Amino acid sequence: MSLYVTRLDKLKAEIGEENLHAFLSSFKCSAEPAAEQFLKRSAIRHDSESISRTHLALGQDATGADVINGFFTLAIKCLSVEKESVSKKTFKLMNVSDNIAQAYLLGQLAKADGVERGFGREMIKQAFHTFAKGKEMFGCRVVRLDCRDSLIDYYDSCGFTFIRKNLDKELNQMVAII
Ligand SMILES: CC(C)(COP(=O)(O)OP(=O)(O)OC[C@H]1O[C@@H](n2cnc3c(N)ncnc32)[C@H](O)[C@@H]1OP(=O)(O)O)[C@@H](O)C(=O)NCCC(=O)NCCS
Repeated sequence: MSLYVTRLDKLKAEIGEENLHAFLSSFKCSAEPAAEQFLKRSAIRHDSESISRTHLALGQDATGADVINGFFTLAIKCLSVEKESVSKKTFKLMNVSDNIAQAYLLGQLAKADGVERGFGREMIKQAFHTFAKGKEMFGCRVVRLDCRDSLIDYYDSCGFTFIRKNLDKELNQMVAII
């Protein structure tokens, strides 16, 4: 499976904000409406305020028109870690200082309705490729994400480890070491 991924800011420079907005509006992800709404309502602003960077996996439909097959959003977000919540080895690799580890964030990940199984996993590989570049330039070995209970096993199979529930107990914090 080959992915063509472009950054939202690059596409905005090419086609302009209005056209980009219209293009993002076509994205449908029934499994996770919040992710769809993020792309439609917040991704451009988060990008222009440098809160995060959204990456779009593009394809073409039967008529040859560009479509968004999926997207992922990367950012930086530190993580509070207690010694007991991870193995000794992981704790050391996380460079924890005053109970805080600096971390890259896989903030959003979603594929469009109808896109083949395994596409999300390919997007995660691409995200890790970008994190590896960040690590090379700035250091930091930790990638974090927050997910629902139903996705813990999926992210576990992608190399993430559950650390704990977040404060409101709704989402689960998971980390991977790069
Ligand atoms: C998460 C995602 C990118 C994974 O894509 P993928 O690697 O191609 O894998 P699949 O779509 O086959 O999903 C893997 C498993 O997770 C489950 N899953 C995916 N999204 C789910 C969701 N929102 N809630 C519950 N389960 C979900 C799938 O049912 C599947 O389970 P199965 O293996 O028992 O059939 C994709 O399923 C997706 O876009 N989901 C909706 C958006 C989402 O939930 N993002 C994560 C927010 S933390």
